[in-house]
Amino acid sequence: MISGNIEFVYQNQIFIVRNPDTNETLLNYIRTKLKKTGTKEGCAEGGCGACTVVLGELKNSEIKYKAINSCITFLPTLQGKQLILVEDLISKEGSLHPVQQAMVNYHGSQCGFCTPGFVMSLFSMFKKYSKFKDDVIKDSITGNLCRCTGYQPIIKAAKSLKNKNKVDHFAKNKKNTINLLKKINNRSIVIYNKGKKYFAPQHVWELKKILKKNIDTDFFSGGTDLSLSVTKEKKDINSIIYMNSISELNYIKKNNKYIEVGASTPLIELESYIKKYYPDFTKILKRYGSPQIRNVATMAGNIATASPIGDCLPLLLSLNAKVVLQDLKRTRILFLDNFFVSYRKTKLKKRQFIRSIRIPLFEDNTFKAYKVSKRFDDDISSVCAAFNLEIVKNKIQSARIAYGGMAVIPKRAIYCEKVLSDSLVTEEIINKAKKSLEKDFKPITDVRASQKYRMEVAKNLLEKCFLEIKQKKLIRINI
Ligand SMILES: Cc1cc2nc3c(=O)[nH]c(=O)nc-3n(C[C@H](O)[C@H](O)[C@H](O)COP(=O)(O)OP(=O)(O)OC[C@H]3O[C@@H](n4cnc5c(N)ncnc54)[C@H](O)[C@@H]3O)c2cc1C
Ligand code: FES
Ligand code: FES
Repeated sequence: MISGNIEFVYQNQIFIVRNPDTNETLLNYIRTKLKKTGTKEGCAEGGCGACTVVLGELKNSEIKYKAINSCITFLPTLQGKQLILVEDLISKEGSLHPVQQAMVNYHGSQCGFCTPGFVMSLFSMFKKYSKFKDDVIKDSITGNLCRCTGYQPIIKAAKSLKNKNKVDHFAKNKKNTINLLKKINNRSIVIYNKGKKYFAPQHVWELKKILKKNIDTDFFSGGTDLSLSVTKEKKDINSIIYMNSISELNYIKKNNKYIEVGASTPLIELESYIKKYYPDFTKILKRYGSPQIRNVATMAGNIATASPIGDCLPLLLSLNAKVVLQDLKRTRILFLDNFFVSYRKTKLKKRQFIRSIRIPLFEDNTFKAYKVSKRFDDDISSVCAAFNLEIVKNKIQSARIAYGGMAVIPKRAIYCEKVLSDSLVTEEIINKAKKSLEKDFKPITDVRASQKYRMEVAKNLLEKCFLEIKQKKLIRINI
């Protein structure tokens, strides 16, 4: 292992940062050390997109571009990647990048504070897709807020982008960038800085070695939950193990019983993979944070955080998912149903980590999931519901139903399941099942929703699910 340094590619050179502060945000580094102030700080919690930058990562000898929120990214995680800032989009000859030119042409900027963030989100879209359809455009900018221009000029700018412009200066310089990335890739990192430690192992065996010697250390995957304790609560994280550097844990595979998702797989990859098996899973993931969040955030992080409003959790509970836990010696497989103990408490022990998640395949079942939040995109759920139903000739053979936002933990609706199981789908049974939710849950009132609203929504989502099944079509607004 190399101690102390990180290396990344910036402006066609390898940059070395010696002994960085392990809690320093990438945004702070960009603005105060690189002295590039195009990238802005708005919220410091991943919600406004003003700090969006793009990272280039080598995958199968190709560069994959990802928009991320630099305000909640820690500098050491830049190891082995290419950093692209808004200042870098202009060519050497001084011509604007097609994305920037489109924003000018369509008057996509007024005060300009949000503009660099929008430009970087659209740049990432430009590099990732070959066609810029309406849904791709809208999804690409869900993580960016604009308070004065409004979104229509920005959407029009994005629509005007043409494939023929795709050969930009990054494409022309691709070979050189790949060579530079190859030089600095594949290194495990250890940093000790002013009493703080940071480890980025490449392999599970290295991770175990680190865990053996460092009992009180935090796993850091996408960091989209954990980093906020630094940026918002102003705490220090004294010891970090960066899990997303372990490519061995970045995979999705399937057998005839389940889909297995490795712990460091970003949600954006699951989003497209799982569509074929559970289209509603993809629909929920599309509304999960923003592309900047999903480009790095993991399902393992969502599970370990154990928030009652974690969006994957009711879906996984209704699908009877299992978590594969690993410690120094053993692998243990636990039903997610038995994993959550109390508010944000789980059965994870010291030196134990989530290795993967197994999502069973129910080919003959109907799976439906709904998220209700104040804002459609990039917002936390007030209520999230998931229904996994086996219905044969109008009879419910089995029902697994789970809700988020209705209790201190994401939880199954056991009484409701009992009412539905072995029953015919009738209005009477559905009404009885709705009523039984009052036995299952005693939700709270908080800033997101009142107790009464939550219960009403939970009941209505159940009814909606059966109406959709009966009418064999989706009655959904905006999806
Ligand atoms: C702007 C914004 C929007 C968001 N929107 C949503 C949303 O719509 N829905 C939603 O559910 N969540 C949302 N979140 C919360 C967050 O993105 C998710 O919970 C995410 O899945 C966390 O994953 P991560 O990889 O970033 O976790 P991290 O922040 O890296 O870690 C979270 C916790 O899990 C632990 N951990 C991480 N990996 C492992 C592992 N392999 N083994 C054991 N423990 C581990 C960490 O130690 C930490 O305690 C949002 C967050 C932000 C900032
Ligand atoms: S500053 Fe708002 S998302 Fe980073
Ligand atoms: S141009 Fe002012 S906030 Fe978007």
